[in-house]
Amino acid sequence: MERHIALELARITEAAALEAACWTGRGDKHSADNAATVAIRSRISSVDMDGTVVIGEGEMDEAPMLYIGEKVGNRRGPKIDVAVDPLEGTETVANGLNNAISVIAAAPQGNLLHAPDIYMAKLAVGPSLAGKLSLDDPVEITLAKASNILNKPLSDMTVSILDRERHQDMISALREAGVRIKLLSHGDVMGAIEAAVDSEVDLYVGSGGAPEGVLAAAALRCLGGEMQGRLLPDTPEEEKRCQQMGLSDPKRLLGMDDMVGRGNVLFVATGVTSGDLLSGVRYLPNQKAETHSVIMHSMNRTVSYLKTIHHLSGTLDNLTEAAI
Ligand code: FBP
Repeated sequence: MERHIALELARITEAAALEAACWTGRGDKHSADNAATVAIRSRISSVDMDGTVVIGEGEMDEAPMLYIGEKVGNRRGPKIDVAVDPLEGTETVANGLNNAISVIAAAPQGNLLHAPDIYMAKLAVGPSLAGKLSLDDPVEITLAKASNILNKPLSDMTVSILDRERHQDMISALREAGVRIKLLSHGDVMGAIEAAVDSEVDLYVGSGGAPEGVLAAAALRCLGGEMQGRLLPDTPEEEKRCQQMGLSDPKRLLGMDDMVGRGNVLFVATGVTSGDLLSGVRYLPNQKAETHSVIMHSMNRTVSYLKTIHHLSGTLDNLTEAAI
């Protein structure tokens, strides 16, 4: 994939972040999500790629834009699978909390897992632990192995997990083991990525959205980390949905190759509200705004950070009225 596609995609997540950030703290997650989706949809057709949305806003009959199977790009570039979450952390923005991003991942056609919108059990780690742990192990065993490999006592390790009722047993097991726990309110794409960058987090565990699992796996591929996942279909309908999406054995363990293939992978994200890795949108005087993005390529494992000053009146003429 061409390097310039990454920059073009980052311009698009920047635009989405600027739009979504207008809705920060306004208690309206649907408008925030819609603003980001419209921003991406209205710009992505100009990108030099022959893209197909494999992870997006839903099925064609339930999402008018960025639905699964929608063709995106100007058809003049390479054939690409696109995974897009215009606003990862809709509640976060609605409630004025941290860690919301706009995110796009891309890979050559046929490489990204068509993940249904159900839960996925996840284990994400950085390069030192990649290939050395198993999602099949009980969490106590995983911790013991990780502590041994990292040569770090359990009491110095930090594990992040979504703060959810369904995780109470796992959280108790983590407490019992003596590790520090970073409880996430929302946003497990960044939660998983944190395990693979310079941060206090050693492991990300627990279940979250399957589409978010694939997005995080794209970033982890670029970072030399690893994501393992297992879909958690809860009803016969969800099982059927998995099968319709080409997963004949929905409950099998999914590795990196299953989720992001073996080819080049690209990941771009822009902060909407501030998080540990990316600052959120900052509105500046004189109709300007600042965004922070990250662009990752798997081919040479480059991670670039982009700080952009936007002149709102000139470049984003359709910025929502709620903006300033
Ligand atoms: P939204 O952007 O749809 O609000 O999702 C945020 C998120 O926290 C994801 O990062 C995570 O994978 C998923 O929701 C977890 O779902 P749940 O809130 O049902 O536990």
